Amino acid sequence: MHTLETLFSVLCLLTAVAYVQGHGNSNLYELLTDDKTTFLSKDFKHRVRRTTIVEKGGEKINTTFAESEENDQNTNTTINTIDDHRYYTSKFTTRGQSYFIDLTNGTESLPYEGLEIEKHEILSKAYLKAAFVALKFPFYFYGNKVQRVVVTTGGFLSVGPLFHAYAHVVHYIAPLMANFNPSIDNSTEILVGSGKDIFIVQWKNMQMNNTVDGSPKYDFQTILHENGTIVFAYKDVPVSPVKLPNDTHNVTIGIADGLVLSFVYDKGGKIHFHNYIYSYHRISLPLRNPISGSAFILDLEPTCIRQTTCGACLNKNNTRFNCKWCPSLQRCSNGLDWHRQSWMSRCAKTAYDDPEKCSAQIPGKDTNTMTKKKQSSNNGALIGGIVGFLVIMVLLIILVMFYYAYTHPQSSSGMWLIEHRPAVLFSKARFNKVPDDQLL
Ligand SMILES: *[C@@H]1O[C@H](CO)[C@@H](O)[C@H](O)[C@H]1NC(C)=O
Ligand SMILES: *[C@@H]1O[C@H](CO)[C@@H](O)[C@H](O)[C@H]1NC(C)=O
Ligand SMILES: *[C@@H]1O[C@H](CO)[C@@H](O)[C@H](O)[C@H]1NC(C)=O
Ligand SMILES: *[C@@H]1O[C@H](CO)[C@@H](O)[C@H](O)[C@H]1NC(C)=O
Ligand SMILES: *[C@@H]1O[C@H](CO)[C@@H](O)[C@H](O)[C@H]1NC(C)=O
Ligand SMILES: *[C@@H]1O[C@H](CO)[C@@H](O)[C@H](O)[C@H]1NC(C)=O
Ligand SMILES: *[C@@H]1O[C@H](CO)[C@@H](O)[C@H](O)[C@H]1NC(C)=O
Ligand SMILES: *[C@@H]1O[C@H](CO)[C@@H](O)[C@H](O)[C@H]1NC(C)=O
Ligand SMILES: *[C@@H]1O[C@H](CO)[C@@H](O)[C@H](O)[C@H]1NC(C)=O
Repeated sequence: MHTLETLFSVLCLLTAVAYVQGHGNSNLYELLTDDKTTFLSKDFKHRVRRTTIVEKGGEKINTTFAESEENDQNTNTTINTIDDHRYYTSKFTTRGQSYFIDLTNGTESLPYEGLEIEKHEILSKAYLKAAFVALKFPFYFYGNKVQRVVVTTGGFLSVGPLFHAYAHVVHYIAPLMANFNPSIDNSTEILVGSGKDIFIVQWKNMQMNNTVDGSPKYDFQTILHENGTIVFAYKDVPVSPVKLPNDTHNVTIGIADGLVLSFVYDKGGKIHFHNYIYSYHRISLPLRNPISGSAFILDLEPTCIRQTTCGACLNKNNTRFNCKWCPSLQRCSNGLDWHRQSWMSRCAKTAYDDPEKCSAQIPGKDTNTMTKKKQSSNNGALIGGIVGFLVIMVLLIILVMFYYAYTHPQSSSGMWLIEHRPAVLFSKARFNKVPDDQLL
């Protein structure tokens, strides 16, 4: 009986090691390799009070097409370029007039049922301001469900699990993010069109901050479709965005998403809140492309989180990601979405990627383990010796792994440790110093 108990604890420990190793391979490693072009860049680490941003995104698009694009523009032909960014496929066309849905003349001429158009009076006269606007349909951004967006005066929307000071770096949909100042000119309008399957924000007659009278006015918009497609349509681009000043405010066209991990901890008797914001993907579209009448179209590719059944989740034909199914939450994920925190706490141990398990019964697994245990117990003493040795090895491995994770917070196991703060093993105060020193 004693041997049986020891064997059982070894099995548990082995499971614990497999768990740590599994995370070693699937957390940060997946984060770094999930996209071939991602890398950990030091330039993007910011500290905003107790918010940490860890940048892992940064997808560069094929510049070859951008150059051929410019040549083609001189010969006045229609350009259609297609680029694949894993989460989205982007298309650019210089003949994109038909994509532009002008909101300035009211809804009458527009073929969208139930579309309501409103000029945002406050934003239209403000500078460096933003406002929440609710959507009438659920919009899926990187597969994450969005019910409201933040409209800004800076030519972009912020879309994320929360609005934070670095939304323009991590969580945005930007047809033309620049240092625009709507308060300069009273002809500037920020219009919002909200329908049952379409959402449009038009930035009309936008002028840069620090401009003199008669300087160029931009008119452009972003359109969100119910199927996840994002359109950037440009009506007036008097000066190429490449030439816009970027010294105090970045000029950006594209989208970016990240996830937020929130922690509360006790340090020196005070309660601290710390958000870690991981930027996991970004698409930067070429600033030189937009001209008057052109458009970018970004079509959403199928993502894990949009799969609602185990079978759909684990069918490799459905997405390009390594999806796993979590039976307790009935959720599909690759760990990189807005719900990562609940995924890590409730699914990390139980999620699987083997399609055969979708129909398999959990009790079946238990009987297997039981028969193995029974067989093993027949071998008695010999097993006892091996077991003792294994226990020591396993404990050593665990200690080494925790030490590594503790000293390398940006490694896969380090990220795992951040998410599983083991208060029993390390004093909280000591552990919390690690990310502060190394991430900021
Ligand atoms: C970039 O685009 C060009 C032209 O479309 C293509 O020939 C080339 O293979 C692409 N390069 C990459 C890395 O995708
Ligand atoms: C290119 O097309 C635009 C309108 O589509 C036209 O105004 C312009 O004259 C054309 N340029 C050339 C060189 O044909
Ligand atoms: C909107 O109205 C203006 C004049 O008020 C007109 O010039 C313009 O063509 C109209 N645009 C659309 C899309 O109907
Ligand atoms: C815009 O401002 C100018 C001067 O401040 C004023 O004369 C004009 O009536 C305003 N136009 C509108 C449409 O409010
Ligand atoms: C915007 O313009 C005002 C007035 O010219 C200037 O004081 C301010 O510093 C500018 N802000 C930015 C962020 O460029
Ligand atoms: C999404 O819907 C829009 C508008 O109906 C359509 O133009 C676009 O092609 C659709 N995208 C996909 C990927 O089906
Ligand atoms: C700002 O614009 C200049 C000139 O176009 C460019 O070389 C530089 O990389 C830009 N800086 C940033 C931060 O985008
Ligand atoms: C602009 O972007 C660069 C990287 O492209 C970043 O390092 C910098 O902090 C950004 N500047 C602002 C003001 O957001
Ligand atoms: C995936 O697609 C291939 C080719 O169409 C097909 O042979 C295979 O059965 C599909 N796999 C699943 C799990 O549906």
